[in-house]
Amino acid sequence: MNHLKVRQEFPMLHQVMHGKPFIYLDSAATAQKPRSVIETISRFYSGEYGTVHRSVYDFASQATSRYNEVRKKVKEFLNAAFEEEIVFTRGTTDAINLVASSFGKAFLQPGDEILITEMEHHSNIVPWQMICEERGALLKAVPMNDRGELIFEAFEQLLTDRTKLVSVAHIANATGTLNPIEEMIQCAHARGAKVLIDGAQSAAHMPVDVQKMKADFFVFSGHKAYGPTGVGVLYGKRALLEKMPPYQGGGDMIDQVTLQSSSFQHPPMKFEAGTPMIAEVLGLGEAIDFIESLGRHHIAAWEHDLLEYATKRLKEIKGLRIIGTAPKKGAIISFIIEDIHPLDIGTLLDIRGIAVRTGQLCAQPTLQRFHLSSMVRVSFGIYNTFEEIDTFVEALKEVILLLRPSLSY
Ligand SMILES: Cc1ncc(COP(=O)(O)O)c(C=O)c1O
Repeated sequence: MNHLKVRQEFPMLHQVMHGKPFIYLDSAATAQKPRSVIETISRFYSGEYGTVHRSVYDFASQATSRYNEVRKKVKEFLNAAFEEEIVFTRGTTDAINLVASSFGKAFLQPGDEILITEMEHHSNIVPWQMICEERGALLKAVPMNDRGELIFEAFEQLLTDRTKLVSVAHIANATGTLNPIEEMIQCAHARGAKVLIDGAQSAAHMPVDVQKMKADFFVFSGHKAYGPTGVGVLYGKRALLEKMPPYQGGGDMIDQVTLQSSSFQHPPMKFEAGTPMIAEVLGLGEAIDFIESLGRHHIAAWEHDLLEYATKRLKEIKGLRIIGTAPKKGAIISFIIEDIHPLDIGTLLDIRGIAVRTGQLCAQPTLQRFHLSSMVRVSFGIYNTFEEIDTFVEALKEVILLLRPSLSY
């Protein structure tokens, strides 16, 4: 893979921030966009715009077929068995809320259980709390060890005949832990529970095969996969989606409507109420083409090398502690530095042109587990380089020298 060429495709990577070349180390929050995605959206709005699934005129029917083409593309991207298993949502959060609400209404009885883990993003915690409260069900969480790995024996013990669904991150956004999802799915299925995989941090970074992993649901966000904001994907097994009630009511999702009652379309349309995010779906299709043109095996290998190199370099720094040291990780490194507030680090890196994430990372239970109130996180995408890591590490050393000279060399 020619990295110079890849970087050329991302206009944002050629910007300056505070007068310094921009170094973007926050792809776990959101990824930068390649030119092809930006241009697809711009072209659509300026010369091709029309609505979908409604009108017969040329621009509308072209928009409809392009929108439907993206569904096919996503099906291939995830290796789903059927196009009907791909529902467009507004993002991962929206997709999890859809499943929590709809699966919950269809299958959760008082006393039933939902099992998550301690390392989840708030989006994979709060919707379950809400539906469990509504249905009188119990929410349980699998603990993690000091390396940030899920404790598998605890998972097995927490699974019961009352567990209706396990919802777990493929890769945890705060610790970077890659979970053993195939083994988890096997155990969950053996107890009769369904499994949702939160693929927000994995879909753009490694090959994903929902049939091989046997996931019942798999969700991800377009904007973390080099695509636009405002679009995401819910994959759900067809038989399950068929049994689940609509999440929202409105246009597009109906079959017949009278003033007394309505009947609904089959999935996926049953779950896509209202005029959808057409430009965003087209942008997502373009982002998938971009990812596939590089190959997810290559992307995973490159990001793994960046992770190993950055981990090694960060370990040079006195007083720095990495949170999340599982042997299998995505390209995410969270850390703290003795007696220095993460916000100060983030601010001083910002004026050096370097974008990192600081704070609670939408994962307060993870921080509680490690008795922390804030962390710094760096995360990599396909466009990052070893040189950027060197610049970041040197800048970090400078920041430490400024803030805590006693920790310096
Ligand atoms: C693991 C994980 N799940 C869910 C989400 C929520 O994604 P979104 O904000 O795109 O809906 C994120 C975003 O950071 C995440 O990392």
